[in-house]
Amino acid sequence: MFHERPAALYKSNHDIGKEAPFFVKENPLDKRFIDIQDEWIKEQFQSSERAKVTEKLLLGYLDSSLTWEKLSTPRYFVSEDLYGRGGGTKTLSLYSFCRYTLVDAACMTFLGPEILDVDTEFIEHYVQWDNTSWKIPHQVPRFLCRDLNKARNKLVDVFVNYYSKPEKERPHLSWLFDRMQSEQQHLGFSLREAASISILMLWAINFNTFRMAFWVFAHIICDPQLKASIISELTPLQRPDGSLDLTELVSSCPTLDAVWLEALRLYNNGTVARNTIRTTVIGNKTIRPGTQVLGPLRITHLQPSIFGPDAAEFNVDRWMRDKNLESTKGFAPFGGGKTLCPGRFLAKREVTRFVAIALSRFDLKPAGETKVPLPAIEKPALTMLDPRTDLLVEVSQRKG
Ligand code: HEM
Repeated sequence: MFHERPAALYKSNHDIGKEAPFFVKENPLDKRFIDIQDEWIKEQFQSSERAKVTEKLLLGYLDSSLTWEKLSTPRYFVSEDLYGRGGGTKTLSLYSFCRYTLVDAACMTFLGPEILDVDTEFIEHYVQWDNTSWKIPHQVPRFLCRDLNKARNKLVDVFVNYYSKPEKERPHLSWLFDRMQSEQQHLGFSLREAASISILMLWAINFNTFRMAFWVFAHIICDPQLKASIISELTPLQRPDGSLDLTELVSSCPTLDAVWLEALRLYNNGTVARNTIRTTVIGNKTIRPGTQVLGPLRITHLQPSIFGPDAAEFNVDRWMRDKNLESTKGFAPFGGGKTLCPGRFLAKREVTRFVAIALSRFDLKPAGETKVPLPAIEKPALTMLDPRTDLLVEVSQRKG
């Protein structure tokens, strides 16, 4: 992956007679494989035609999963009152509702529904992996990682089987995953190694997004005034057939946009890591080459000097008052520089549209506890924090 001239490596590995891979054919600058892969990632997730197709597919999956009937799926359904609020209510786990709806949609978009032909439990294996994956960056000793390894091995097995199938049996595998696995094999990676890298990509796609959706929803559902403001912003977007025109969602719904930004600020426990390659001075500190510098995002995101005296509180008004706050240096929820998150635009559209569609179709109220749960700051997180407790929500269908 980090070899200076991947083409040179290929020459010693390739099968004579087979077409040369992309990193030999179309890599005149002789870039490192990891840098080529980086470009593919940006091409898949940002402003190209490819990104638009992916986004359309993802939003289509979300749209079709938000129906009254599908809310009864046992993965997040808790109970039903057939006579509640006039036409019946369903009680759901908000955490599982966000998790399964978004992870399902992303897996179908990037891997294709045919992945379930290999293993119908694929999503469950992924969820098990997600639950235990914090142990990787925290370097938990191997003997305490049996749960993580079990989930990882199951996922690797599915990917190996899936990638071994003829292309016509996995027609919806996305361009990025297909290109990555085939080029990695050309480089001499085993199929199991390529499968392991696919798991990491799926992790980057899913880990933060559904947790963000949870926080955005929790604040809206637990604050009737906030909910009313957002619903009044959504009402003019309603088409005669009841669907929403979401093309200008962010500019039409400044309150929803502010909830997104405030949740991103308050519940982000990410750390960006950089290695110094030459002597560098930051403030009054001189950092020698070879030092790893860590930038914990939460510390700057909670700075009263940047966000005001109520920096520790959830307050959407700060984003409504100051439209330049988003571009302040102290706000870096997606990291920065060369490794700036390439999925940031997709993540925002995915979460805000999910919330907007759900709010336009259903009325959601807290079932029991009416306070937003506290974040589990004691639990290691890759970036977005988990809540300490779930929130149960009572859902009914919106009339008219
Ligand atoms: C709210 C959701 C998200 C948050 C808060 C988030 C945050 C981050 C952060 C903090 C980084 C590290 C940046 C750095 O080291 O400078 C990162 C990297 C990355 N993210 Fe995201 N992310 C989110 C959603 C997504 C989505 C939806 C995708 C893909 C569709 C994605 C793909 C990636 C990838 C591939 C990297 C590695 C980039 C590299 O190393 O070059 N992320 N993300």
